Amino acid sequence: MKLPNITILDEVDKRLRKKSSEVTFPLSTKDKQNIEDMITYLKMSQIPEYEEEYDLRAGMGLAYIQIGIPKRIFVIVEELEDESFKDYIIINPKIISHSEEMIYVGEGEGCLSINREVEGIVPRFARVTIEYLDLDGNTKRIRVREDIAIAFQHEIDHLNGILFIDHIDPKNPYKNAEKYREI
Ligand code: NI
Repeated sequence: MKLPNITILDEVDKRLRKKSSEVTFPLSTKDKQNIEDMITYLKMSQIPEYEEEYDLRAGMGLAYIQIGIPKRIFVIVEELEDESFKDYIIINPKIISHSEEMIYVGEGEGCLSINREVEGIVPRFARVTIEYLDLDGNTKRIRVREDIAIAFQHEIDHLNGILFIDHIDPKNPYKNAEKYREI
């Protein structure tokens, strides 16, 4: 596999704070290529030999704004138990329902735009149902849970200019941890 030539913005870049715009269809060839590149990048970042060869940080999701384009698109690449990958391409997402229960990643959330250690927890819904458009503009619905639900909420935040660190109070980074379930 060849590493796609994409540049991921760092948190200091103000573009990450922009609210991304709704996508109109059909997608351009360039958008489709960028989506494919983001997926390939994430996949390679999760394969140890490429991670090492290209000095990558493993990542599960990328929002389009992270490569500088303010459109409401994100991709998530999930490694399955048989070591194959499942891709999610999500356009114009809306959370239509969510669980009462909230969870957080015990070791902390990560983001390919945050290049430093950040301590603290980010409470997220344990399950969410999302309505979105696929690559052809068809309306779809998906229900996700646990780590994938967290990834979806993290990426939707990016579309609204929000980073996971915004949810953490630096003076009390583990605030209310006992109220939520750790995963
Ligand atoms: Ni992120």
